[in-house]
Amino acid sequence: KRRTALTALGTAAIAGTRFSFAQQPVVIKFSHVVANDTPKGKGALKFKELAEKYTGGKVKVEVYPNSTLYKDKEELDALNSGSVQMLAPSTAKFRPIGVPEFEALDLPFIFNGEEGYNKVAKGPIGKDLLKRLEAKGITGLAYWDNGFHMVSANKPLLLPADFQGLKIRISGSKIADLYFRRFGAIPQIMAFSEVYQALQTGVVDGCENTPSNYWTQKFYEVQKHITNSQHAHLQYALITNSKFWNGLPADIRGQLDKAVDESTDYTNSIAKSENVDALEKIKASGKTTLHVLTPQQRQAWIEALKPVYKEAETRVGNKKVVDDLLKSAG
Ligand code: LMR
Repeated sequence: KRRTALTALGTAAIAGTRFSFAQQPVVIKFSHVVANDTPKGKGALKFKELAEKYTGGKVKVEVYPNSTLYKDKEELDALNSGSVQMLAPSTAKFRPIGVPEFEALDLPFIFNGEEGYNKVAKGPIGKDLLKRLEAKGITGLAYWDNGFHMVSANKPLLLPADFQGLKIRISGSKIADLYFRRFGAIPQIMAFSEVYQALQTGVVDGCENTPSNYWTQKFYEVQKHITNSQHAHLQYALITNSKFWNGLPADIRGQLDKAVDESTDYTNSIAKSENVDALEKIKASGKTTLHVLTPQQRQAWIEALKPVYKEAETRVGNKKVVDDLLKSAG
């Protein structure tokens, strides 16, 4: 598409006419797996609005939500082949392309609230992790927040023993695999688009996710009990194909950088309230029972999960990333 635009520009310049050509916009296909009505969904639409505005229509952004274009693993292949130009996968999904270090961010109970998470994402660790994508032909543009995970099943999950023998859907991280195994559960990687049906039919017994995803995917309709455990954090890396991004004319890239920065601020500013609202709506639906952990129950989770920090070093394949994270989080 871009080549066509440049050719058109060249032809018009030769002809010396300023008005005789219709410039083809650069098209950015932005694929993701969640609903429009989530922090990431809204962020993608904000990026579209700002990118089109700042480039004066020279860039057109097509947002494909809800796995309508590609599912989890496929979307990274599509970015690589140039079928899409932007994605915002959970950082738990980068192992298949060889950047498992991101999974350190999935360690349980490492962030002291959103503030602790932000410190890491905006600090040297966050930057270092994004930089690791470069070797894969990917440019990491920003982190988009989606808050802390809840966990659910058709029985109350209050103590580690409650997980014994349950099949739990995880999104890809070996760290999530480790912590659910510590509880005696059987974790299973599955694409996000398949979770509702898997819960409904009993292919898996439970899952973890944030309130906005439970609400928009209707997981709460097929899980009798949800515990707002906040045991791990869900964040996305906003990414683009480096060859595509670096090949853009400098003025357009500058305008897109501005759109990235502002849509990132926007997404991160609504993440918390979107999830609070979603939780309220889940509660109001009356379709599930919501639980919070007592301090003693939370402590029992923390105790049971302590070995995970050591195990993580080999799983993540980088002791320094894990050490740095444990030092700086909190
Ligand atoms: C999941 O697969 O559970 C999440 O990564 C989905 C998402 O993108 O929020």
